This record gives sequence, structure tokens and C-alpha cells, in this order.
Amino acid sequence: MPSPTGSQPQSPGAAIASPEAEDITADPHLGDETDSAAGDEVAESTSSLTDSIFDYRKIHGRTFQSSRTTEYWAPIDNQQVEGLDITHHFLTLLLDDQLFLAPIGDNPQTVLDVGTGTGVWAIDFADQFPSAEVIGFDISPIQPSWVPPNLRFEIDDAQLPWTYKSSLFDFIHIRNLHGGISDWPALYRHAFRCTRTGGYIEHLEFNIRTLSDLAEPDHIYNRWNALFAEAGERMGRTFQIYDQMQSHILDVGYVDVVAKTYKVPIGGWAADKKLKDVGMYTLLFLDQSLEGFALYMLKNVMGWEYPEIQVLVAQMRQGLRQWKKWQPYYEIKLVYGRKPESSRSAVDA
Ligand SMILES: C[S@@+](CC[C@H](N)C(=O)[O-])C[C@H]1O[C@@H](n2cnc3c(N)ncnc32)[C@H](O)[C@@H]1O
Repeated sequence: MPSPTGSQPQSPGAAIASPEAEDITADPHLGDETDSAAGDEVAESTSSLTDSIFDYRKIHGRTFQSSRTTEYWAPIDNQQVEGLDITHHFLTLLLDDQLFLAPIGDNPQTVLDVGTGTGVWAIDFADQFPSAEVIGFDISPIQPSWVPPNLRFEIDDAQLPWTYKSSLFDFIHIRNLHGGISDWPALYRHAFRCTRTGGYIEHLEFNIRTLSDLAEPDHIYNRWNALFAEAGERMGRTFQIYDQMQSHILDVGYVDVVAKTYKVPIGGWAADKKLKDVGMYTLLFLDQSLEGFALYMLKNVMGWEYPEIQVLVAQMRQGLRQWKKWQPYYEIKLVYGRKPESSRSAVDA
């Protein structure tokens, strides 16, 4: 069973070597067809809510949120939002049914989920710890109204100064916020101030690059990767936080920092049963989310025309459906750290 590789807890300020994720063993019974239509296997800041939250933008029929402070790059319509819940499902599967890995104990009291999305993580967490008070916040109002009594959602922008009291939270959770933040060190400084002494931060991110040890440099995966890397930088809100989160978390003062990396197959090509399932969910999520990912980034940021975008999306979708041939995968990194007893005072952002 592939397990994540992890670095051991570090002393404050100690440099951490980034751990290598374990390779995925391919299923030897994949068959010969290299061009298979795998498509067959794809099921087709605590401030009050402002008017701008409901100022939706439409780009070629897809709905995008339009906050005055952060123009988020992915749509918030049903099609995309469903993808968030599929992602929650396969990430939880990957972590062996655990919602987090930080050693927060059995009795967390106050918990914050930053950029909560549909709130699916926060809902599961609140159910698991009924005595905890859980808050999830997001710039987009896409959370359900029927939630556990110990959970509340707020509409706020993580890029604005946080108005939560210092040392309030036992646990601060962040997942897949790439492309939403222009100043990551500032965000972690807010989080550090709001974490209680002995409390934890945990942050999980995808490396959004689609990797394949078999694809050539000019393969659609690599063209797509290069485009999105450039678009993220042009937008001023990087997609590359995956590589930087560990050192930022250490820099603001968290200690006992642990990082784990995972290789997540796209498609059912892994020999391991759990990874095979995770891979099929990942493929399903991508298949329905690709157009949403591309629209804003390629049209508004890179200046492409809609037909060009459609061609690229079709090529990428086709490339992903050929998972037997290319054995594509993602990398995921999870980093957690503890706020020490004696920390330099209020690293206020
Ligand atoms: C990919 S989704 C992940 C949602 C959730 N964390 C999860 O893992 O299911 C990213 C979410 O971050 C939100 N977001 C992006 N930038 C934000 C910001 N500056 N402040 C608050 N939320 C933000 C988006 O609206 C979106 O709901």
C-alpha cells in the first residue's frame, strides 16, 4: 500500500528537505489499447455580506463570483461546485478516511476553515467533533444552509486583514486555495496570530501540473501546465503555492512542521485498489471541471478567443482520457505545524 512520505517534525527555523512522494505502481493488467476511449469509464474576513458578493459575472454561459477584492478564477456554478465535492471525496479516501493529519487531539474547541468552498470539509469536521465550534469562510456564497448546529459560514476575503481575535483557534485548515491569494506570507501571518498557543495549522494543496513520466515535452499535459503557470503569475495570484507553503509556514513561526507528499493517479491505472478508485474520481472531477478552469484564465488573463480555448480543452480532455497510455498523475502536499509556547509576539499582518 503506497504511503505518503513525510518529513519529521523540525525545530523552529530548521530547514526542511522536501520529501519525495512514493511512486505509483501501474496495474500490469491495463491491457494493450493505448488510445482507449476511457471516456466510457467516466460518468458522463468576518465582515458582513456585501452586495458585491451577489454580483455574478458570466463568461460564455458559466457563472463566476465577482468580489471587489478578489476576482476568483474558477466558476461557482453547479458543474464546478460538484467538482469540489468529488475532490473532497477522493482526498478523504487518499487520507484513509481522515479529514486532517495534524495531531490536534480529541477535543478541539474552535476551528476555522479558510476558503471553505461548499463547506463539505467543515460540515464533516463539525459532525465528527460536535463539541467544537467550527467557522468556514469564503468569498463565494456557495455553502448550503442546512448544516450542523456547531458550524457557521461567513462570507469574507482571506486577503483582507482578519478580524478574528488573536489566539482564537485550536485548528486552522486551508485546502486548495491556489490562485486565490496574492500575498501568501501575509495570509499565514494572519493565521499564526489567530492560532492559539499549542494549536495547529494544516494546509493541503495540489501541484496543479498534470505529470506523466511517459509524455513528451510538447505533450498537451505540458502545454497546459506551462499556460496555467504563466496565467497564474500574470493574474498575480500564483498557482505554485505547492512548492512554497512549507517554508512560509515555518517562516511565520510555526514549529514541529511536518510535510507529506502524495502522487495521485489520474484515471484507474494504479495497481493499488485505493489509488485506482482515487484515480477514477480524479478523472471524473477533471473531465467536468476543465472548461471552467480554462475560461477565465485563458480568456480574461491570457486574452485567448473562445474557440481557441475550446480546442485546447478538448485536447486536454482527450489527453486525460488516454490515461492508460500516459499514466498521468498529480502531486499533493499536506503541511501542518504547531504554534509554539513562546512565539515572537503578534506577527500581525
Ligand atoms: C478550489 S476551492 C476549495 C474549497 C474547499 N477548501 C475545499 O477544499 O473543498 C477554492 C475556494 O477558495 C475560495 N477563495 C478563493 N480566494 C479566496 C479568498 N481570497 N478568500 C476567501 N476564499 C477564497 C473560492 O471561492 C473557492 O470556494
